[in-house]
Amino acid sequence: MDVRIRAIDGDEWRLWRSLRMRAVEEAPDAFRSTLGQESAEADDWWIELIKKTADHPYDVLLVAEAAGDAVGMLFGRVNEGELLDVGSMWVEPEVRRNGIGRRLLANAVEWGVSVGAVRAELWVGKDNTAAQRLYEQAGFVPTGETEPLRAGSDLVVEKLVVDL
Ligand SMILES: CC(C)(COP(=O)(O)OP(=O)(O)OC[C@H]1O[C@@H](n2cnc3c(N)ncnc32)[C@H](O)[C@@H]1OP(=O)(O)O)[C@@H](O)C(=O)NCCC(=O)NCCS
Repeated sequence: MDVRIRAIDGDEWRLWRSLRMRAVEEAPDAFRSTLGQESAEADDWWIELIKKTADHPYDVLLVAEAAGDAVGMLFGRVNEGELLDVGSMWVEPEVRRNGIGRRLLANAVEWGVSVGAVRAELWVGKDNTAAQRLYEQAGFVPTGETEPLRAGSDLVVEKLVVDL
């Protein structure tokens, strides 16, 4: 499968929003925020968020495109100059198990290292076997630190870390 991974520009808020809407609808247990919360946000909220994030030197918004269609996403942020936070990882179900998630993650790590990250962390659902395997293949290890996915939720997420 011919897939391109790229960082989006600050004016591509519609692209990120449509992917994000699809992700939170398709995989509601994988993300802290919900379709209800995100679909309630006005255009201006998305415009400002994506502009600020895409233009920030320590943030990256990655999309995966296959035959011109956006089929995956990932957000990366380097905090305190050295800690890469990874989130918003999602791949369209029809194209899963083609290595797109792995490539998104590898691309984020490569970017993070290029801006000084020495360690990466992320949170993954205790029941999310697919994502756990993907992260463990990339060297992430469980920390034992857990918390509810969101306030009042029975779903539990665990922090994973890796030295880069
Ligand atoms: C997790 C997710 C991003 C994986 O995307 P993907 O493009 O299918 O992943 P890849 O094809 O790169 O898989 C890489 C490795 O992860 C593991 N993996 C992926 N999906 C798996 C599954 N369903 N079951 C078991 N292992 C799986 C495998 O080890 C795989 O390597 P292999 O295919 O060579 O065996 C995708 O399933 C998804 O979007 N899930 C819903 C959202 C989500 O859970 N996001 C993560 C939030 S923390």
